[in-house]
Amino acid sequence: MLTRPDVAVVGAGPVGLAIAWRCAARGLRVVVHDPAPGSGASRVAAGMLAPVAEAYFGERELTGLLTESAARWPGFAAELAGVAELAGAAELAGAAGAGFGYRTDGTLVVGLTGDDLAEARRLWSYQQGLGLPITALRPSQLRDREPALTPRLRGGAVAPGDHQVDPRRLVTALRVAAERAGVTLVPGAVTRLADLVAPVVVVAAGCGAAALTGLPVRPVKGQVLRLRAPGHRPPDFRHVIRGYADGESVYLVPRDNGEVVVGATVEERADTEVTAGAVLRLLRAAVDLVPELAEYELVEAVAGLRPGTPDNAPILGPLPDRPDVLAATGHHRHGIVLTPVTADLITELIVTGRPDPLLTPFTADRFAAPAGPRSGSTAGGVGRDRETANEGETCD
Ligand code: GLY
Repeated sequence: MLTRPDVAVVGAGPVGLAIAWRCAARGLRVVVHDPAPGSGASRVAAGMLAPVAEAYFGERELTGLLTESAARWPGFAAELAGVAELAGAAELAGAAGAGFGYRTDGTLVVGLTGDDLAEARRLWSYQQGLGLPITALRPSQLRDREPALTPRLRGGAVAPGDHQVDPRRLVTALRVAAERAGVTLVPGAVTRLADLVAPVVVVAAGCGAAALTGLPVRPVKGQVLRLRAPGHRPPDFRHVIRGYADGESVYLVPRDNGEVVVGATVEERADTEVTAGAVLRLLRAAVDLVPELAEYELVEAVAGLRPGTPDNAPILGPLPDRPDVLAATGHHRHGIVLTPVTADLITELIVTGRPDPLLTPFTADRFAAPAGPRSGSTAGGVGRDRETANEGETCD
């Protein structure tokens, strides 16, 4: 057990573990606090690495960070695979994608009806306008790539650089890597930052960061299903499929072990109940796009809480009133893809004391500013704005 760590990280999800691993690799003594590593948003997440298909209107700076992090994923995955392999981690052995399901098959965006296609096209035209790699395809071209898609499709596009990883296995691999690098995991909850004895504290606690720091991080519920192909054979398609089906939006993420993740609702709620209506809508949209999925086993229906912020972008860097406390939270729908860049930027800041310019748009003080065109907030400090506060909701 460490006497006095250089860095205390709160939260053992992918972001917290990756920061701990990177810091330890730079020679720092690191301790990570979490009562249940990997039990937050990452346990529910599908693991899409989608800087293009998730480039939304009005989020230019976030899109830039997604693109930067996605570009770091191949190196990050190779390094992590090397460590996990060296460690001979039994729980990672034999799985595809170096043990954590990193796959580079790309993503198809598809529209079922004319209206669905119009909606999808509007977004991918915007993405093309940003210079992002996404190309329209005719229905026959889509079905050449994925014959399992319904012949009723009206059209779609391919985003060849949008990939996937299995978040649950990723947490295991990161934990192995962190522990091999000398990180100590402490299985306890942190309720007050004052209880931590370290010159630098990193809060990577997802939406739990709100209670610890007062940052405007709110829970955003997502319901997700997991299906399994008959006989555990690989699913009938290899691309990630993001579809619009009769006005519903759905994504389908196939894994080599036969699993297909079907997601997700986006609800401004803080409970984790699975509802019949959500399951119905997700399944209907999934089966509309890939009819064969009706034969798959439904093995899990689960809900998790994404850490949302007022502008949907993460909060990275020191708290305005506590330069020794660094936030690495608020990743909302993008925690898995943003893991490498978050770990690199926060580690560099800790080691050198110099913030990378990439951090500038994502610092916590953007929410502390007085009312103005950028934040649209009312007066008050971090976490005090009625529009941005989570109003006492927690992730529990
Ligand atoms: N990035 C997918 C989701 O949050 O549902």
